[in-house]
Amino acid sequence: MGSQVHGTQEFNKSKRAEIKFSEEAMAIVKGIVSHYPEGKQKSALLPVLHVAQAEFGGWLSPEVMDYVAEVLKIKPIEVFEVASFYTMYNLKPVGKCVLEVCQTSSCWLNGAEDIVKYIEKKLNIKVGETTKDGMFTLKTAECLGSCGTAPMLQCGASYHENLTYAKVDTILETYKAEGKLRSYTDLDYKNTL
Ligand code: FES
Repeated sequence: MGSQVHGTQEFNKSKRAEIKFSEEAMAIVKGIVSHYPEGKQKSALLPVLHVAQAEFGGWLSPEVMDYVAEVLKIKPIEVFEVASFYTMYNLKPVGKCVLEVCQTSSCWLNGAEDIVKYIEKKLNIKVGETTKDGMFTLKTAECLGSCGTAPMLQCGASYHENLTYAKVDTILETYKAEGKLRSYTDLDYKNTL
């Protein structure tokens, strides 16, 4: 048992060693941290987690969270507490495009349920699942603050509003053709943070 635990630790350590921000991402992280006083770098955690999620495949593995803790000089549990609280952080692998369909009052009254069913059928997945090609994950979300243009969905930093089946078709085709990870910072986060 002891050697098994030790073996797991070694494995985690070697996985952890592979995780490092690119120079570009690290420059962005440093820029974010510089907005806060010395010793208050924990305040930078939310935007830094967005950069980490965009940088490391759209989700935050335990190793990535440990790395963020190390970069910000805070405890790993402090990172986990925040990352596990907000639905915008994914703690398990997801598709390159996470589709979050709002299901709250205004969207619900305007057909959100039908939009969800339409996407489920089109992508052959259920809510919470990812397509086999790793392209799309479907989620539902609570009010995303775009009630006047219901029904709507969010994918990364983009809002898609006044949804119709035809609009959904276009969104899915466009994203699939682009084939890129859509993060809350759209990967060209240098322009948006
Ligand atoms: S109810 Fe859907 S955005 Fe507010």
